[in-house]
Amino acid sequence: MKYSISLSLLFLVFSCSIPSYKSSSVSSPNGDLKIDFFLVNGVPGYIADFGNTNVIDTSFLGFDLKDQPGIGTNLKIVDQSAISFSETWEMPWGEQRQVQNKYNELTVELQETRALERKVNVVFRVYDDGFGFRYEFPEQENLTELIVEDENTQFKLTGDHMTWWIPGDWDIYEHLYNTTRFTEIDAVSKRNHSNLAQTYIPENAVNTPVTMKTAEGLYLSFHEADLTNYAGMTLKVDEDNLMMQSELVGSDITGYKAKVAVPFNTPWRTVQIAERAGDLIESNLIVNLNDPNILGDVSWFRPMKYVGIWWEMHLGKSTWDLESTQSMNTVVQGDAGTVGHGATTENAKKFIDFASENNIGGLLVEGWNTGWDHWIGFDDREGVFDFVTPYEDYDLQEVVRYGREKGVEVIMHHETSAAPRTYDQQKDTAYALMQSLGIHSVKTGYVGPIIPEGERHHGQWMVNHYHGVLEKAAEYQVAINAHEPIKGTGKRRTYPNAVSREGLRGQEFNAWASDGGNPPEHLPIVAFTRMLAGPIDFTPGIFNIKLDPYKPENQVNTTLAQQLALYVVIYSPIQMAADLVEHYENQPAFQFIRDVGVDWEQTRVLDGEVGDFVVIARQERETMNWFVGGITDENGRDFSLDFDFLDSEKDYEARIYSDDAAAHWDENPTAIEIETRTIRKGDQLDLKMAPGGGFAISLIQK
Ligand code: NOJ
Ligand code: CA
Repeated sequence: MKYSISLSLLFLVFSCSIPSYKSSSVSSPNGDLKIDFFLVNGVPGYIADFGNTNVIDTSFLGFDLKDQPGIGTNLKIVDQSAISFSETWEMPWGEQRQVQNKYNELTVELQETRALERKVNVVFRVYDDGFGFRYEFPEQENLTELIVEDENTQFKLTGDHMTWWIPGDWDIYEHLYNTTRFTEIDAVSKRNHSNLAQTYIPENAVNTPVTMKTAEGLYLSFHEADLTNYAGMTLKVDEDNLMMQSELVGSDITGYKAKVAVPFNTPWRTVQIAERAGDLIESNLIVNLNDPNILGDVSWFRPMKYVGIWWEMHLGKSTWDLESTQSMNTVVQGDAGTVGHGATTENAKKFIDFASENNIGGLLVEGWNTGWDHWIGFDDREGVFDFVTPYEDYDLQEVVRYGREKGVEVIMHHETSAAPRTYDQQKDTAYALMQSLGIHSVKTGYVGPIIPEGERHHGQWMVNHYHGVLEKAAEYQVAINAHEPIKGTGKRRTYPNAVSREGLRGQEFNAWASDGGNPPEHLPIVAFTRMLAGPIDFTPGIFNIKLDPYKPENQVNTTLAQQLALYVVIYSPIQMAADLVEHYENQPAFQFIRDVGVDWEQTRVLDGEVGDFVVIARQERETMNWFVGGITDENGRDFSLDFDFLDSEKDYEARIYSDDAAAHWDENPTAIEIETRTIRKGDQLDLKMAPGGGFAISLIQK
C-alpha cells in the first residue's frame, strides 16, 4: 500500500461582518464543489454549491436529546481548522484495485454559550465527487452520554427533482423503486406489501441511497457512510419546503433512536454529486469515508462464482425442511413428500460436479440444518436453529470433503429467522465448526420481525448485532454475505470480510412475488441507487426465464442476454449462477458465466441514465481481460460501443452475447445471438438491446 499524505492549511473565509452570522467554507480539491458552514444566531447550518449551481440550500443541524436540552442552539465557534488529505489505498478485492482518497476537510468546533457549555464539532470532508459531514462529540464534563430522540440534519433541495426512491422502511429494503418528483413521494402508500415477511413504514420518508436528477442535469445521491453503533438513517420528506430531514430508525422497546457514550462520532451524512449518471457508480466516496482495513491479511477469502441448492426451493421444486411442507412464501403444492428435501448429500455432490467442471468456486447449501419446520410465520423462533446440526440426509463432512477433492468450497448458510439473540449465543460455535472444516464464508439471513418484538432491522440494536457478527466472524476467518441486512455504508473498507449483502429486491422475487416480479426497469434503477452502497448478492443467471414448469404464474422479466450482462453490471465478489444446473446444460450462452471474472482491476461506466440503461466495462485483476455488460429497461435501444478503454497493441478475442433482433423480455426472452470476432482498441460495435434486454461481451487477450 502506498500513502502520500500532505497536510496544509486551506483557504478559510472567516467573516464577522454581521454579529449574528459567521461562516467558513471549504472546497473540493478541484474547486468545483464548495460547502459553506454558517452559524445564524447560534444555530449551525450549511449550504453546498457545485460550480455556479446551488445544490443544497440553507440547511440546519441539531439534535433532540432525552433528559437534557437538545444541541443545536446557543452555539458559538470556538475554533476551526482545515486540512488537505490525499492517499491511494488498495482494495483486497473490489470494483478496482487502487482507490484514490483525496479531500479537503474543515472542522468547526462549537460550544454552547449557555449553562451546560456542551461541545460538538462538525466536520466536512469535501471530495471532487461529493461530500460527507458528521458530528463529533469530544470528551467533556457535561456530556458523557447522548440519548438521541431525533437527529435533525437537513438537506434543503433547490428544486422539485426527479427522484428514485424506496420507502423509509425500518425493517426491510426489499421494495420496488419508484420514480417521481420529490414532491410526489408517497412512501406511506407502500405499506402492507403482501410479499414482505416484515415491513414498517411509519411516515413519509425514504431510505438511502436515494438518487435525484436536477433540472440542470446534475445527479445527486444521499446516503450515509460508516454506520457504527447508531441507528440507520431514513430521510423524512417535507414536500412543501423541498426539505429532507434525517429520521433515525427507532425502537419500541427503548423509545429513543440511539444511546451512545461520549466521545462519539456519528456516521457521515453523504451527498454524491455528478454531471454524468455513471460517475455516481464510479464514485468511491462511501468507502473512502470509512477507516482503513483493520483485519490485515484477508487472503483466506477468495472472490468466486457459486452455485447453490437454493433456486429450487424458491421455485418449489424442493424444500428447506425435511418434512417437505413449507416453502418460502407458499406452502408447496401437492402432497407432502412429492416434493423432497433439497439439501441432500447426493444433490450437493451433483452441484459440486457441475461447479468443478465449469470454473465455479463455491457451493451454497440452504436447508442443511435442523429448524426449518419452524421459521417463517412462527413467533417463538428463539433457539430453533443451532447452525451445527445437519438434517439426517445431509452429511456435512462428506460434502466438504468431496468439494475439496473437486476444488469447490462449500458456503455455509445461517438463517437466523430474525432471532439475533440466538445467533449471538451460537455464533462462536458455528464459526468454529466452519473453521474446522475450512469454510470461509457464510450467507446469513434475518427473515421475519426481529425478536425481541419492537426492535427493527435497521435500528441501533441491530446495527450493533450485524457489526458484532462481522467482528466475531473475522476472528474465525469467515466472510459474511448478509441477507435482510443493514444497508452497506462502506464498512467493507474497514472489515473486508463484509463481502456482500442483499438489501434490495433480489432475483428471488421473480420466483414468487404476487405483483409480477421485478419489472425491467428494476436493475437500471438499482445500479444508480442501491449499488452505490456497495456489493449486491442479487443472484443473476436465470436461463429458464419462464420458470417452466415450476411457476406458471411467475417469470424473470429480462432477456437471457441481460441475465449474462448482470455479472458485469452488478458488482459483488461473490456472484451466483443461480439457476438449476439442468437449465445450464447444452446452453452455449453459459460460456459467458464460465469465463466472466469476479474481481476487478478497474471499472468504467461507459454510459447510462438512471432507470433507463447502463453499460459498464470491468477489467479482471488476475487476467487483465475485459468484460462488458449493458442492460436496458422496458425500452429497446441501440448502443454504439467504443473500445477505447482497451490496451493498445493487443488483440482481443471478443465473444458477444446479444439480444436477437426478435428478442423481448416477455415475448421472446431467450432469443440470443453469440458471435466471436477480433477486437482492438479504437474499434466500435453497434449493439441492439431488446426491450428488457442487454448484452454481455468477454474480451480475452490473444
Ligand atoms: C431470504 C433470502 O433472501 C433468501 O436468499 C433465502 O433463500 C431465504 N431467506 C432463506 O434463508
Ligand atoms: Ca431476502
